[in-house]
Amino acid sequence: MIAIKNERELAIMRRACKITAAARALAGEMVKPGITTKQIDTAVHDYIVSQGAEPACLGYYGYPASVCISVNDAVVHGIPDDYVLKDGDVVSVDLVAKWGGFHGDCAATFACGHISADAQKLIDVTKQGFYEGLRFAKYGYRVSDISHAVQTYVESNGFSVVRAYVGHGIGAQMHEEPEVPNFGKPGRGPRLLPGMTVCIEPMVNQGVYNVRVLKDGWTAVTTDGKNSAHYENTVLITDGEPEILTVTEGL
Ligand code: MF3
Ligand code: CO
Repeated sequence: MIAIKNERELAIMRRACKITAAARALAGEMVKPGITTKQIDTAVHDYIVSQGAEPACLGYYGYPASVCISVNDAVVHGIPDDYVLKDGDVVSVDLVAKWGGFHGDCAATFACGHISADAQKLIDVTKQGFYEGLRFAKYGYRVSDISHAVQTYVESNGFSVVRAYVGHGIGAQMHEEPEVPNFGKPGRGPRLLPGMTVCIEPMVNQGVYNVRVLKDGWTAVTTDGKNSAHYENTVLITDGEPEILTVTEGL
């Protein structure tokens, strides 16, 4: 059963999502050569707590930090540590805040200093892949219409979409039905209805789509060692245009 959120619940989700989006912006501003990923994690943690919210990744199935920071060939779920960011790094941040019992979830990839043209294209195509999917995040379409749009756009730009991780519904739980893959044939899966809240989150690789998980049990990396990027927002399905909830305006 896919939860339909009522207006009371949506008001809470909007606030949770704004806090999440502001934390993403803070993390993005901190991405500079010389800073450690742990310093970014501490700042994100303290910001979320300062807003009366909870960093929902912290302790989630034992995950040890408030924000996932995945550098270069890391795809998702990288663990902040003493690694010092350097010029040319491709830095993905992914975080979840819980406020008033509801979750917001968003991600983005940031350039650290000067990055290659190829890496910038990867970041740009990943973000635009989200917007291509968003065109189908509407009453009248099915979940896999989003998936198909993301895959078609990304592959037409010469990159691959990760299969091992997918987008998801979100609300009182961080991960709810439905799964929202970034690949697949159109016209499949549940029908999208007003009041559903979903995370659309393309994970895009420069090379092959295959990933493996490091011995830390979390960090997913590309098997060919090439770069990966990620872009995600929490989105409300309405009876018209979708509403991106993870925005900073009006916080
Ligand atoms: N946005 C990530 C996801 O949906 C958040 C994961 S938090 C973690 O998978 F604890 F699992 F890392
Ligand atoms: Co997510």
